[in-house]
Amino acid sequence: GYLLKQHFRNENMVYDDEQQGLKKQIVIYFSHVVAENTPKGLAAQKFADLVEKKTNGRVKVEVFPNGSLYSDGEEMDALLRGDVQMIAPSFSKVTELIPEWQVLDLPFLFQDYHDVERAFTGDVGEHLLAMLDQKGIKGLALWGNGFKQMMSTARPLVRPDDFRGLRFRIMPSEVIEKQIRLLEGEPIVVSFDHVYRSLERHEFDGQENTISNIYSKGFYKFQPYITISNHGYLGYAVMMNKSFWESLPKDIQQKITEAIQETTKWNLQQSKKQNEQELEKIKQNKSIHIYELSEEEKKRWERKFAPLYDQFTKEFGDKLLREIKQR
Ligand code: LMR
Repeated sequence: GYLLKQHFRNENMVYDDEQQGLKKQIVIYFSHVVAENTPKGLAAQKFADLVEKKTNGRVKVEVFPNGSLYSDGEEMDALLRGDVQMIAPSFSKVTELIPEWQVLDLPFLFQDYHDVERAFTGDVGEHLLAMLDQKGIKGLALWGNGFKQMMSTARPLVRPDDFRGLRFRIMPSEVIEKQIRLLEGEPIVVSFDHVYRSLERHEFDGQENTISNIYSKGFYKFQPYITISNHGYLGYAVMMNKSFWESLPKDIQQKITEAIQETTKWNLQQSKKQNEQELEKIKQNKSIHIYELSEEEKKRWERKFAPLYDQFTKEFGDKLLREIKQR
């Protein structure tokens, strides 16, 4: 703790002698892996602007997008080491640290955006964020990207059988791995910054992601069969290194909390709109085949995925699940 704090004091607090003697500027590095023009990229920038405004420039948040500082496989360690102060990894990537977070990867957990918003900004969200505390992380908020869709190189993915034998890119997540195995596909973990290159090299046949990520990174150019399944939700845990957080003056903590709350509210609206608009843009491309899963087809997928719920409950109990499902 002490050494870490020293590190931050030296590296991330710049003394500005010219203005009123010893006024320090606090610098927060915020690293993430997606494009700037995405729900996470835009929220990170909005948060940075709000913090700067609310603190009259005393705090500067520097956002590093596109994994330019750390890839998704590296950013958690970088945060824990204190090399960056903030990251916002997807839930799946938090499950390696906190296995209970697997609950958020269960398919068809959230029915719609209201479900998502209630969970993210209510008691469940608070419980989930509190779990980060014992890992040396200050959990600030849960942000959303959107519902995930399935896509493939060669054929439409409509019935569970359609996945059989496909090599499928996944994030590191036990639940998602089992999900693909239930479909008799072959899951392959690929970090986000390698997805495009792997597509160029035909290293996998299918993947799941949000329209925003598919659009901003151009994945549809390689995998033109997109199924609107909304089967999973891609959300983010916005986190700060805990000893850094604790080293901040109380008034600054207060401003950061206000900025994060404002940003979260905005993000939950904006992310929905952005995914809808970008779906329309993708649809204009005549070589892309978009298939919307019917309710009946969705039910078939749900039945296929039912064992994931049993396994989760067996391992972790049903408390979190019940909290999320409470209507
Ligand atoms: C992915 O790896 O597909 C996503 O988690 C990337 C992201 O952060 O949205």
